[in-house]
Amino acid sequence: MRVILLGTAAGGGFPQWNCACALCARCHRGELPARSQECAAVSGNGRDWWLLNASPDIRTQLLATPALAPGPGPRETPVRGVLLTDAEVDHALGLTILRGGAGLTVHAAPPVLGALMADLPLRGLLDRYAPWEWRSGTGFELAGGLTVTAHPVGAKAPKYVGDPDPDAPWVSAYRVEDPATGGVLVYAPCLATWPDGFDDLLDSASCALLDGTFFSADELGSAVRSGSAGQSLMGHVPVTGSGGSLAALARHPGLRRVYTHLNNTNPLLDPASSASAAVRGAGAEVLADGSELVL
Ligand code: MLT
Ligand code: MN
Ligand code: ZN
Repeated sequence: MRVILLGTAAGGGFPQWNCACALCARCHRGELPARSQECAAVSGNGRDWWLLNASPDIRTQLLATPALAPGPGPRETPVRGVLLTDAEVDHALGLTILRGGAGLTVHAAPPVLGALMADLPLRGLLDRYAPWEWRSGTGFELAGGLTVTAHPVGAKAPKYVGDPDPDAPWVSAYRVEDPATGGVLVYAPCLATWPDGFDDLLDSASCALLDGTFFSADELGSAVRSGSAGQSLMGHVPVTGSGGSLAALARHPGLRRVYTHLNNTNPLLDPASSASAAVRGAGAEVLADGSELVL
């Protein structure tokens, strides 16, 4: 299985268009690598590719990735569809860029498909350009030889949803397996907390692509401090700290662990920061846009 990290920044990307913080300013000066909004692509055979989320940067991301170039026929593309982890703007808006793409399939949990019908009504709009298949299921096969299971990992609804069901499975992780190699990717770019059962899921994986939005719980001041239930108010578990993901990952020494969806406040954007050194020391990685993993 090939996995390409098309984008590795949280919503807004890095630098963020309306931000002149120290990190964004250094990125503007060319001192830190820019990152587009989080999105990845997977393939079992190198010919059929599935997008993991569709960021608003998807056009640039597709054009920068030779494996995803159109062809060989004049209107052919290796892109077969999209697996959405959630209905957030930074993960779903790229669907509009793919409009007119024939025969695409979108997999998402029921509340996500509902939001894309009612609150951010893209489904009806996109089906008028070219009819797509919209599916929700907990286990399915992908063209190209990959086997997928979807796992609810959180109930954080997008801000634009007016009156969300607070208990609905708004956020999913995907386990993608290549039966030919035995490689297993767990893709979880949005984790509000370390979910129940997530350790079992990681036990069966060779690589995890994980929520690295915030390095620490106080990165945005009180905005991301944990509530009484340990639920991060911004919907993202921090990397560091006693309740952080890095401590939890220590239970999985054989697992390749890669952080993605980095917010523009995150010191991991600077490879020379002490935060980056700590993450590397714990065996975790932060990779550049365009990086490829082979599992
Ligand atoms: C998130 O990851 O929490 C959302 O994408 C936030 C947002 O940009 O609306
Ligand atoms: Mn996001
Ligand atoms: Zn900034």
